[in-house]
Amino acid sequence: MSPTQFSLLAVLLLAGCMAQGGASRVLELSDRFLDIRKDGQWLVKFYAPWCAHCKRLEPIWNHVAQSLHNTNIRVGKVDCTRFTAMATEFKVSGFPTIMFMKGSELFTFRGDRTKQDIVDFALRVSGPPVQRITRPESISNLRKAISLFFVYIGPYEGILWEAYLSIAEAFQPNAYFYGVAAETARDHIDFNRVPAVLVYKDNMHIFFEEPPAKDESPEERLQAVNESLTHWINAERFHTFLKVTRGNIHQTLASNKNLVLAVVEENKLEDIPAHMIDFRDMIESVIRENKDKYHRHFQFGWTGSPELANSVAMSVLPLPSLIVINSTTNHHHLPAEHLLGPAGLAPETIIHFLDTILDESAPVYGGNSFFVRLYRAYFEGKTALADMWMGNPVLTSVLFGLPLGFLSLICYSICCADIMDAEEEEEEQDHEKKE
Ligand SMILES: *[C@@H]1O[C@H](CO)[C@@H](O)[C@H](O)[C@H]1NC(C)=O
Ligand SMILES: *[C@@H]1O[C@H](CO)[C@@H](O)[C@H](O)[C@H]1NC(C)=O
Repeated sequence: MSPTQFSLLAVLLLAGCMAQGGASRVLELSDRFLDIRKDGQWLVKFYAPWCAHCKRLEPIWNHVAQSLHNTNIRVGKVDCTRFTAMATEFKVSGFPTIMFMKGSELFTFRGDRTKQDIVDFALRVSGPPVQRITRPESISNLRKAISLFFVYIGPYEGILWEAYLSIAEAFQPNAYFYGVAAETARDHIDFNRVPAVLVYKDNMHIFFEEPPAKDESPEERLQAVNESLTHWINAERFHTFLKVTRGNIHQTLASNKNLVLAVVEENKLEDIPAHMIDFRDMIESVIRENKDKYHRHFQFGWTGSPELANSVAMSVLPLPSLIVINSTTNHHHLPAEHLLGPAGLAPETIIHFLDTILDESAPVYGGNSFFVRLYRAYFEGKTALADMWMGNPVLTSVLFGLPLGFLSLICYSICCADIMDAEEEEEEQDHEKKE
């Protein structure tokens, strides 16, 4: 047994393997993990026992470990209040933080902390940035298993390949990248030139258009192709109509398109009232029918958390609603009141609304200026307070009432003390005079 194997075994034993109830496959890691972190692949959760988000993640984390049980990825957790050296070493700044470690490579998970998203992330980063497809039938299997992925077709050399590989390295935590030789792909993908890059999503292929060749050196050409491919991949790595959440809204805004958001309300069980589902479906059918016209400029999505949209709009939007966010300027657009018919938004009005955004005649709200940010902070504070009040009026009154009570007591005593002192002094003076 080599020393590293030995220390690995020691850590595994220390972990008690079956922490808590025998069912969990999560390894409880200590500072000694630092000696072996470069051996194998690790998915690690950094947590603190007092943090509420960590408690919510706990059962999900056990399921993640269960799902990854048959892979060579080990799943662990670190209590950062006990093992502070670990938190320092990995520069953990918030709880929970999820990281994947592979040799000296380190990937931080940024997304929704659902089992599926975490498992997908781990499987993506555990492989090479571009996975090579060698058997033709793998292509149809992939389509069944993964709903969105990029494919490079052609020889593994040349400018397009170099650009694709370096972008895949950068985006590996966020998307799946494959490579395939032209002969292998021939019967499964319809392509008319090699090399080519395409994205598979929503049951279709969309090809990347290389920028027209200019009189440029190979280095300049690589730069140009890399830049336009980066832009394209960044914009195409989302589904045509995706669910937008707190976890992914920042990623979505990075697409550099206008984000068109259907706002509905979802309860804790992910149920949505029927009329809001109809609204969402209506929006989805409008965008699918007009995909070619809007695809380049708009990213479409829906959200079940109205507070996300309210915070952008800085007001409480009626439900269901439609809001468009300009990802570069952070301005937003709302359909004008007079566009709304008796039954709310109709397909024609939506198209008209989107067209006015494209020709920049739609009214613009919000933005990123200092005053808007200040107002947004005020609005969010107010909303948080109102939510607290609705959730637990007694606690809210105690929390805010007690300090207020103390404050008024202190004020009262300061003011009144002055007056009383003054009177006393006067009285004393009177006494003196009398004496
Ligand atoms: C291409 O772009 C990616 C992502 O923007 C970047 O990480 C990479 O360094 C670039 N590659 C080259 C060869 O310029
Ligand atoms: C955001 O607004 C600016 C200024 O109005 C505009 O130039 C830009 O094209 C818009 N962004 C998008 C993604 O359309």
